[in-house]
Amino acid sequence: MKIKLGVLFGGVSVEHEISIITAIQAMNSIDPIKYDIIPIYIAKDGTWYSGMMLKDIKIYNDMDLLKRYAKEVVLYKRDDKFILQNKRGLLRKDITEIDICFPIMHGTYGEDGNLQGYLETIGVPYCEADTYAAVVGQDKVFMKQIWRDSGVPVVKFEWFYDYDYSKNPDKIIEKLEKLGYPLIVKPARLGSSVGITVCKNNSELREAIEEAINYDTKILVEEVVKNLTEVNISVLGNYQKQSLSVIEEVGSSNKILTYEDKYIGGTKGNGPSKGMASAKRIIPARIPDKLAKEVNDIAIKAYRSLNATGVVRIDFLIDTKNEKVYANEINSIPGSLSFYLWNKTDKEYPELLEDIINLGIREYKNKRNKIHSFDTNILSNFSSNGSKGVKGIKK
Ligand SMILES: Nc1ncnc2c1ncn2[C@@H]1O[C@H](COP(=O)(O)OP(=O)(O)O)[C@@H](O)[C@H]1O
Ligand SMILES: [Mg+2]
Repeated sequence: MKIKLGVLFGGVSVEHEISIITAIQAMNSIDPIKYDIIPIYIAKDGTWYSGMMLKDIKIYNDMDLLKRYAKEVVLYKRDDKFILQNKRGLLRKDITEIDICFPIMHGTYGEDGNLQGYLETIGVPYCEADTYAAVVGQDKVFMKQIWRDSGVPVVKFEWFYDYDYSKNPDKIIEKLEKLGYPLIVKPARLGSSVGITVCKNNSELREAIEEAINYDTKILVEEVVKNLTEVNISVLGNYQKQSLSVIEEVGSSNKILTYEDKYIGGTKGNGPSKGMASAKRIIPARIPDKLAKEVNDIAIKAYRSLNATGVVRIDFLIDTKNEKVYANEINSIPGSLSFYLWNKTDKEYPELLEDIINLGIREYKNKRNKIHSFDTNILSNFSSNGSKGVKGIKK
C-alpha cells in the first residue's frame, strides 16, 4: 500500500516563495509508485489549502485562482487516523487520510519548531527536525551556545535583548566592543541575511543594532571572520547514525551572502528562480583535505549536539589564511533539501527523499515507545472547593 504523504509548504515567513520552490521540486521527485502525495499549502495569511493543482508552480502567480480552486483544510487526529478535512464539507470526499507529514518550509513558523510543536500536539507523525531541534536550529544564540558547550568551534559572540539595549545602550555597546571591530550584527531568529550588517566602528554598530531590532527582540553580535571562504555540507540521519554529503563552496560578489545571492542568482529576479540550486557554488569546495576533514568531523558533532533528524545543511566560515574552521549555522530544513549535494555522492533525489521519510517514520515509532503519561487518580481525588486538596499539591 502506498504511503500517504502530506507535503506542507509555504508558510508565514520571508522564505515563503523559496519553500514553494523547494516543495514543488521535491513533490516532482518523490517516487509516485511508493507515495501518494497530498500537497498542503499554507498561505501567507496562515490559511491551509489542499488540492492537486498546488503541485503546479504557475498557480502561485494568481492567488485568486488558487483560492477559488484549492480547498481550505484542517488537519487533525481521529481514532488513530490523521485526517485532512475540507473545512467547508463533511462528506467522505472531503476527507483525506494522511500517514505522515513532510514539512518543506523555511524560516519562521515552518522550520523554527512552531509547526513541529503543532503537529506533535495533535499527534501527527512528521519528517525532519523535531520541535526541540527545530527551535535551537532557528535561534542563532541557542545554536551557538549549545555548540560552544559541545566543543564545536564557533566565532566569539555576545547577545542581548532589545529591551535591555533601550534601557542602557552604552553598557551593551561597551560589552560588544570588547569583541573588537569589525563586528557583524544579526537578528537571532531570522534568516536569508535579512537585518544583518557588518560594522567597522561605534556609529556603524549603533546603526546596525537599530536595523536588527526592527526584526527581532534578541540580537547576536559576532566577530567577523577574515580571509573568508564559506562552505556548506549536508548531513542526513538521526542521533544514532549520520552520513555526509560532499562539501560545497558558496561564492558572493558582496561581503556577506545576500538573499539575492542565495536564491535569485544570475537572474536578478527576472527569470524563474531555481531556489538554492541557483546560488553561485563550487562543488566540491576548493579547500585542502585537512580542512575538509575538519568540516566533516565538526558537521557530525554539530548535528548530534542539536539532536537533528533527517536532512540538514550546516554552513561554515573558514579563515583560510589561519586555517580556522567555524560552524556558522544549521538549516534544519535546507533550501532544495540540499539534493544538489547528495546527487554528487550518487544519492539521487528520490532516494534522499525516501531516506528522509523513513527517518521520520522511525522517529515517530521511537517516540511512541517512550512513556509520556502515567495513569493516576490525582484528578479524581482533587476537590474543586479546595477542602480536600491532594497531599503535596499546594494551592
Ligand atoms: N562572523 C562572520 N564573519 C564573516 N562573515 C559572516 C559572519 N557571519 C555571517 N557572515 C556572512 O553573512 C551571511 C549571512 O549570515 P548567516 O549567519 O549565515 O545568516 P542567515 O541565517 O541570514 O543566512 C553569511 O553567509 C556570511 O556571508
Ligand atoms: Mg546563512
